[in-house]
Amino acid sequence: MTSTFAIDLEKISHTANIAIVVLCGLFGLAGYFVSFYFHFLTVAFFLLVLLNLFWRHGQTSHTLLANFGFLAQIRYLVESIGPEFRQYLFASDTEESPFNRVERAEVYRKAKGIDSTAAFGSLLAFDRTEIKLRHSFYPVDTDQLEPFDVAVGAARGLDTTYHIRRPIMISAMSYGALGENAVRALARGAKLAGALMNTGEGGHPKYHLMEGCDLIFQMGTAKFGVRTEDGRLDESKLAVLAANNQVKMIEIKLSQGAKPGKGGLLPKEKITAEIAELRGVPMGQDVLSPAHHVECVDAASTVEFIGRIQRVSGLPTGIKFCLGRPNEFRTLVQEMERQDTVPDFITVDGGEGGTGAAPKSFMDDLGLPLFEALPVVHRILRDEGVRDRFVVFASGKLISPGKQLKALSFGADVAYSARGFLLALGCIQALQCNRNTCPVGITTHQKQLQTGLDIEDKARRVANYIEALHHDHVELLAALGRSSARLLCEENLYLPVQAPASPLGEEPS
Ligand SMILES: Cc1cc2nc3c(=O)[nH]c(=O)nc-3n(C[C@H](O)[C@H](O)[C@H](O)COP(=O)(O)O)c2cc1C
Repeated sequence: MTSTFAIDLEKISHTANIAIVVLCGLFGLAGYFVSFYFHFLTVAFFLLVLLNLFWRHGQTSHTLLANFGFLAQIRYLVESIGPEFRQYLFASDTEESPFNRVERAEVYRKAKGIDSTAAFGSLLAFDRTEIKLRHSFYPVDTDQLEPFDVAVGAARGLDTTYHIRRPIMISAMSYGALGENAVRALARGAKLAGALMNTGEGGHPKYHLMEGCDLIFQMGTAKFGVRTEDGRLDESKLAVLAANNQVKMIEIKLSQGAKPGKGGLLPKEKITAEIAELRGVPMGQDVLSPAHHVECVDAASTVEFIGRIQRVSGLPTGIKFCLGRPNEFRTLVQEMERQDTVPDFITVDGGEGGTGAAPKSFMDDLGLPLFEALPVVHRILRDEGVRDRFVVFASGKLISPGKQLKALSFGADVAYSARGFLLALGCIQALQCNRNTCPVGITTHQKQLQTGLDIEDKARRVANYIEALHHDHVELLAALGRSSARLLCEENLYLPVQAPASPLGEEPS
């Protein structure tokens, strides 16, 4: 015989609803006969009784409240603090998303400049579900490695060719998505470490420029900072910006992994007077960028637009996208060849990429993951015989040196990270970037929340993180038996059976 135990919620709530009325009366009597101070409780319970009456009989939008009264309210409360409780008390070290505690802790330690070795063994599953790096019997001595150097613009012989000397860059995050202190700490950290920083699509990069680091100016689909009244390119504004010595490249954002096929979104809560001015938008309403550049409606017009930006800016110019249909990319590359207009770099952003704000379905259901997209892009460029004319940047959860080397083995030349740098700034993954309430003052414009974010201290952490990643990059490269990052290829990867179907790469010739 089986016995079932079920909580009779209706009975409990019935009792609770009567109990608060009884308690209110009892405290009233106690206040009258025993001590006046009981009246504080009388008033509290009286208010609760009134609220309870309203929830049960005066509203119709919440069924649970109407059926169960204040007990349902307790459920709402517990549910709202559930994520924090699970994060602190119950989630295991390898369980959370998008980054688990082990991954976050590695960034924190690197950023603080403290020992980031671990003990006893890996916490990851060695069960044929994970892509691994293949080492060599014959590691290269680290002093024999070629220094990291990727020249962007060299294929076109530009005077403005830029040499990237760090294997990691700060990916696009706008002032708007981020607060002033966060932008300045990142920019100062990039300057300290000699790394490149992308401005994001936030318009004139006032705070990025303030810290003196080298920048990739991003032009989103709304062209904030370089737009005409009707949202088209204002060439004179772009030329002025490109003439700034700190601006080293231009990135034309076609799409991003967290919301491909949708333009940027800055919620109205985060639009201050200054942001409205820098972007040239009104306050008090969400700022939605168009899903595509008005100039780019097919392969031919997109390539023409790239050529125009190259001519106007005179700088290495690239495109950022999240891959959807490989054939569209192939057609785009063929059109580039036809027009003899090749962007100097391509940024491939994985569908797993982060964002300040995006519709959930776009985040969850659109866009190829980075390690699926990179080999496809690499292969198409090789098939078309133009791989040497491009530099490929990659982003999508590349917060650890191992993952960065995997991306390089899949065909990227340089890794980009956005959220890795947020963690270096002290992000606790509160998942509130869209609400102006970031508890660690990063994705908020509230002054009191930003006060705790000390620019100098966090800039040092950003620089430490870049240096630690570079250090590990060198050590891993040596272990893989490669004397240069340029020699990495799919032969360096172990692709488990379940991993994306992708041919094993050949040795570089
Ligand atoms: C707070 C935040 C703001 C972002 N803003 C932009 C942006 O302005 N333009 C853009 O192309 N991507 C933006 N991104 C996406 C990142 O540049 C990057 O492509 C993506 O997050 C993948 O890198 P990650 O996994 O290291 O975060 C943003 C991401 C975050 C987390």
